Amino acid sequence: MAIATFSDIVAALANDDPEAEAVLLGEGLACRRAQVGPTVFFRGLIEFSNVCRKDCHYCGIRRSNRRVQRYTMDPEAIADDAALAFEQQYGSIVLQSGERTDRVFVDFVEDVLLRIHRRTSGLLGVTLSLGEQSVDTYRRWFEAGAHRYLLRIETSQEALYRSIHPSDHRFQNRLDSLDRLRSIGYQVGTGVMIGIPGQTVEDLARDVLFFEAQDIDMLGMGPFIVHQDTPMADAEDSEALRAWRFHLALRMVAVCRLYLKDVNIAASTAMQALHPQGREMALQAGANIIMPNVTRVGYREHYQLYDNKPCLTESPGDCRDCIRARIRSVGDEPGDLSWGDSPHYARRVLDPLLARDVSPGRVSEPDDA
Ligand code: 5AD
Ligand code: FES
Repeated sequence: MAIATFSDIVAALANDDPEAEAVLLGEGLACRRAQVGPTVFFRGLIEFSNVCRKDCHYCGIRRSNRRVQRYTMDPEAIADDAALAFEQQYGSIVLQSGERTDRVFVDFVEDVLLRIHRRTSGLLGVTLSLGEQSVDTYRRWFEAGAHRYLLRIETSQEALYRSIHPSDHRFQNRLDSLDRLRSIGYQVGTGVMIGIPGQTVEDLARDVLFFEAQDIDMLGMGPFIVHQDTPMADAEDSEALRAWRFHLALRMVAVCRLYLKDVNIAASTAMQALHPQGREMALQAGANIIMPNVTRVGYREHYQLYDNKPCLTESPGDCRDCIRARIRSVGDEPGDLSWGDSPHYARRVLDPLLARDVSPGRVSEPDDA
């Protein structure tokens, strides 16, 4: 099944016939193995604070949710968890929190990054997922050792974006933030929620074209899940609708793999929230990254972006062993101690250099093209 045009993407996403879906997902898996190999890379996820100054209508840790017990981990405790993940053979981690832009927070993150760098001799890869920030902040964190950044656009369609955010959350600032990240040199990841009320398959197809236009290296996508303590608690929801969102998300993973080919695609935790084997199924549809939660157990219950979040009580070691077994069970290899950069990133960065021939000994003049 060729996925080469906008209408191919729409047709593949819209077709919920189980046999057609099975064919699509099988092709997503074959394409993943051909493009990025049989290795599934791990990122240990540390959710170090649930304090958030934003108020996204869908998110359980939004500032207006008074039912959340707020926490921020100690910098040394975060570094301990990162070092533990490293000892447990994680090649890289993701630091995630609610969004804050104040000076204290920016300094705090920089301090955490420097501690992690010291504790792991700079060998542990660090991805940040800390929202929209200024170019100076992004640069400071890059210089302190972060090299990848995840910032979901949530939807590439501005009107839909406005419908799920308060009016002071600006779509343009998201776009500008993605540009800032890329210009600094981060590997950039983005993604969307799937099954947002009012979202069409054409909107999702435009998201896929957006990922291509943005030349993104990494993708994280998952089904929208209703959280009871948010303004979207009344969104239409049912067993059937959840199943539909889940399957649409699987098709979206396969379509993105077939269309974008060499990017890293995460099997998101939200997939598992809707189906016990959700992440394995996403790997079998074309995803190649899995992000086990390595946050120390006491904090996880307070970081619930959506209802029914899985793995609230497993220790990091349990999560790792459980997921390794799951990966082997579907015929893939867990990729230990590797940063696991996407081939897309290597091509994006190295190909232009190779094309310019920067081999040692060659002296190139400015106009030597
Ligand atoms: N359902 C699904 N995903 C959600 N996120 C936040 N709230 C929800 C929800 N209710 C996702 C957003 C965000 C990421 C950290 O979690 O896409 O970018
Ligand atoms: Fe925290 Fe959206 S509610 S970033």
